[in-house]
Amino acid sequence: MRVLILGAGGHGRAVCEAALDAGFEVAGFLDGRAPLPAVLGLPVLGTEAAHEGGPLLIAFGDNAARLAAAARLRAPLPVLLHPSAIKARSAEIAEGAVVMPRAVLGAQARIGRLALVNTGAIVEHDVELGEGAHIGPGAILCGGVRIGPRAMVGAGAVVAPNVRVGEGAVIGAGAAVTTEVDAFSRVAGVPARIIS
Ligand SMILES: CC(C)(COP(=O)(O)OP(=O)(O)OC[C@H]1O[C@@H](n2cnc3c(N)ncnc32)[C@H](O)[C@@H]1OP(=O)(O)O)[C@@H](O)C(=O)NCCC(=O)NCCS
Repeated sequence: MRVLILGAGGHGRAVCEAALDAGFEVAGFLDGRAPLPAVLGLPVLGTEAAHEGGPLLIAFGDNAARLAAAARLRAPLPVLLHPSAIKARSAEIAEGAVVMPRAVLGAQARIGRLALVNTGAIVEHDVELGEGAHIGPGAILCGGVRIGPRAMVGAGAVVAPNVRVGEGAVIGAGAAVTTEVDAFSRVAGVPARIIS
């Protein structure tokens, strides 16, 4: 499938590499800062105003920005599943979600629309990721965890079995989350505590 990548920053480059590995044909990037020089040898074709309706991989690291772009542009949103990721047959991935190299999706895991499962993250059986959630590199979500829409789990964090993380919550890198995290709260540490 021929796609454009929205966002030519660091995450955009990572998505580009993953998309090429997954067999997409990447026609180029769109970026609000255009005109820009070529990125990874591919042209930056303009701002999102240059989008003509074709499939888009939305490569904004910011969860809310990813969802807002999808609402504005109404493009087809393919799933990007890196070929080195391991997906249980019964795991489900909604449109626009990105699963990066060496991530693992367990049995009946459900990955929400435009969610991002970053490099090497482990999403165990029966985990549910809300729309636009981001699971950072190397994070581990144990079985039955529920992550709310737009929540962010930092790199290397661990969320214990069946724990719920509310909408828009942020979990610090390396945290160990053992109890429910309220919506829009920010926790960090081992065990995780509210930091603001
Ligand atoms: C948790 C996080 C969001 C906090 O950011 P912030 O709100 O800007 O917080 P600050 O940096 O001002 O730190 C506030 C306090 O929390 C502590 N803190 C911040 N992050 C922490 C972490 N991951 N673990 C333990 N303590 C942490 C700080 O040391 C500081 O403590 P103090 O008040 O005693 O000085 C951020 O530090 C973090 O871990 N982000 C995850 C990034 C990530 O993994 N992204 C994935 C990218 S692909």
